[in-house]
Amino acid sequence: MRIPLFAANWKMNQSIGEISPYIEALSSRLQKFPGQLGKNYQVVIAPPATHLQAMGAVIGGKGLELGAQNCGHTASGAFTGEISPKTLQEMQCNWVIVGHSERRHIYLETDAMIQGRLRGAFENQLKPIFCVGETLAERKAGKTESVVEGQLLVLKELKNHLTNQDWVIAYEPVWAIGTGENASPQQAQEVHAFIRKWAKSHLSGPVAEKTRILYGGSVKPDNCADLKRQPDIDGFLVGGASLQADSFGAIVENSLKIRS
Ligand code: PGA
Repeated sequence: MRIPLFAANWKMNQSIGEISPYIEALSSRLQKFPGQLGKNYQVVIAPPATHLQAMGAVIGGKGLELGAQNCGHTASGAFTGEISPKTLQEMQCNWVIVGHSERRHIYLETDAMIQGRLRGAFENQLKPIFCVGETLAERKAGKTESVVEGQLLVLKELKNHLTNQDWVIAYEPVWAIGTGENASPQQAQEVHAFIRKWAKSHLSGPVAEKTRILYGGSVKPDNCADLKRQPDIDGFLVGGASLQADSFGAIVENSLKIRS
């Protein structure tokens, strides 16, 4: 049983002062929903690394989970500017986004680097939210599946972790991120089904069955329900619409209605 997961990616937004009112508003909204947070569905908030400590102090006991937006490939060493996965773990951070398209395209992170970061996360008991997705040019050229498959290949050497630890994949078409143009439910479902099929043949049947695949890219309160109806969409990674507690809460609420 794959319980829905909703992750808020704040990117480099929000001030530390905004954390407390946001969490108060979100958690009081979530308390009104049917189903138990943490048991029937999960909510992860990934603020900037500079905000993790303040966020950790506020979310304690509320059932919300803390995520980072990236992590280094190893616990410690001479890596200026990197964030130790071991320290994230010490800060009660359970999740980490790895391979986001902004990291791939703006900061030129390669598949090899992303594989290292995934390994660093797993070795330090963090749960990766591993992002994949094609650009518009790649989609137009009919290369969506081959691009996504190329990105998935880094998982092959991590099979042991993938089998024994919790992690999720996020399919985020680059052309849909921050553009207001989401993938249609059919377009998203096609790629999600492809990812699950790939996981079944290259990882294992049980891993493919248990692994949640999130959709990300211009998810909003008014488009999430149709996306959530798709059989292989297990939740969302939300950027812009996660910055307000109201709209992120509405995404969780409208999506959970689909299940019941
Ligand atoms: P968006 O971002 O919801 O603003 O499109 C999604 C993401 O980058 O994770």
